[in-house]
Amino acid sequence: MGSLLFVTSSLMGEKSRSRQVAADYVAIARAANPGVTVVERHLTPDTIPHLGMDALAGFGAAPDARSPAQTAAVAFADAIIEEVEAADTIVLAAPMYNFSVPSTLKAWLDHVARAGRTFKYTANGPEGQLKGKRVIVVVSRGGFYTGDSPFKGMDFQEPYLRAVLGFLGITDVSFVQVEGQGIGPDVAAKGLAAARTAIATLAPSAQLAA
Ligand SMILES: Cc1cc2nc3c(=O)[nH]c(=O)nc-3n(C[C@H](O)[C@H](O)[C@H](O)COP(=O)(O)O)c2cc1C
Repeated sequence: MGSLLFVTSSLMGEKSRSRQVAADYVAIARAANPGVTVVERHLTPDTIPHLGMDALAGFGAAPDARSPAQTAAVAFADAIIEEVEAADTIVLAAPMYNFSVPSTLKAWLDHVARAGRTFKYTANGPEGQLKGKRVIVVVSRGGFYTGDSPFKGMDFQEPYLRAVLGFLGITDVSFVQVEGQGIGPDVAAKGLAAARTAIATLAPSAQLAA
């Protein structure tokens, strides 16, 4: 049975709108595949460090030549990558912070994107190594950035995520937006309801049934 990785990145914990809507998809996947393994990785400033020099230097050193700090940093980075590699489907919940992703999600991506492992440089250029996975991304925003919004050009969240996932070889990506969360209770409720409707129409991952 398949494996699903559920990654959240809001500071709001279980009150997070992106997390609530993403959890709807996890429930859809579980209902369709009762034996699915679900791994959760909730990113906060306490649970994900920046990628540091201990990790970078450690990647390039033989295991028995690493310092204790390098060994720990490489073990953490390896664990992050192993979770991603093992997942058939990845569900990402991402609030918009200052027009992009939270720095915790950026730090997670800095751990996931590793040359020689999740992407390789070939004669034909870089080649993503995370092929065949499905990714569902729920993005939540205080304002509106879709349709004919004048703020569309300030959305550095969705295009960035699409680009980095594509670079890693992940092209089966569905986005659901929770918009208008900062505009007042009525608009926020409407935005949340629209996102819940949208996520309910996504088909359960075929990858999980394999
Ligand atoms: C630090 C911070 C930065 C934010 N920056 C933006 C922003 O640039 N644009 C926007 O529309 N909303 C912004 N917001 C509002 C959030 O995107 C919005 O409240 C969203 O629903 C949060 O998602 P969550 O409920 O999953 O935490 C920001 C919120 C915080 C806390």
